[in-house]
Formats: sequence, C-alpha cells, structure tokens
Amino acid sequence: DTIFVLNGPNLNLLGLREPHIYGHDTLDDIAGRLEDRARELGLEIDLRQSNHEGHLVDWLHEAQARGAKAVLLNAAAFTHTSVALYDAIKGITTPVIEVHLSNPHAREEFRHLSYVGRAARGTIAGFGATSYLLALEAAARI
Ligand code: DQA
Repeated sequence: DTIFVLNGPNLNLLGLREPHIYGHDTLDDIAGRLEDRARELGLEIDLRQSNHEGHLVDWLHEAQARGAKAVLLNAAAFTHTSVALYDAIKGITTPVIEVHLSNPHAREEFRHLSYVGRAARGTIAGFGATSYLLALEAAARI
C-alpha cells in the first residue's frame, strides 16, 4: 500500500525557512525518516511538494485514482485559504490526514481557520518533523 505525502508552498525551503518555527530538518530528511518507518510497516511513501495549489488538487485526485491507502497533507499556507482543497478532500474517499510542523492554533489568528481540517479525517500538528511520523502511524492504523 502507498501513502501519498503531499506538501504545499514554501515547504521546499524547509530547514532554511524560519528554523525557530519549522526546525532544521529538510523535506528530504523527513522523506528519509518516513521511508524508513514505512518499510517497517510494509508501506510505500510517495512524497511530493508544490508551490501551486492546482498541483495539490490534482495529486489528491491521483491518490484516489491509484488506490492510495491514505494521504498525509501539509497544505502549508493553502490550509487557511483553499476551498479548492476542501472540495478535493471531500470529493475523494481516500482518508486525508492534515499535518503541520507548527501548531497553527498557537500562532497568528489567520492560521486558526483550516479548510483542510474541516474536510480531513484528523489532524496532527505541533511536533515538528515528528508530526509526519505520527501521521504515518495513524495512516497505518486506518
Ligand atoms: C504549516 C503551518 C502553516 O500555517 C504555514 O503557512 C506553513 C507551514 C506548518 O507545517 O506548520 O507554511 O503548514
């Protein structure tokens, strides 16, 4: 079974970008850790990143079409703006787990609304790179 791990805007800069908030791990570091754990769980990881909203919509559709077991979605800033992502998650039956490195509820007001969270199966946020690993554990148990 495959788990899609979809990452939104600016997450290509992970490790360099506001490390006091997002940590020093790069997206490649996170991918490596996810792949190690996935192997133990008998799962495969398909990790992607885009700065473009429509790519994330297309990849959610693709997760469904390919029969992915689950999607881990860190939509980054699109979390707080994207009705298109809300509709895409609602439009597929593949379980989607919302993931964040930081805890958006403990930050600026504009991060308190999550369109993704309103459609997702559940949310894991606030544990840095470990949020992704915890979400993988959750996905494996669905
Ligand atoms: C983020 C939180 C979002 O509010 C922010 O726009 C990001 C990263 C996180 O993983 O903590 O880009 O999704």
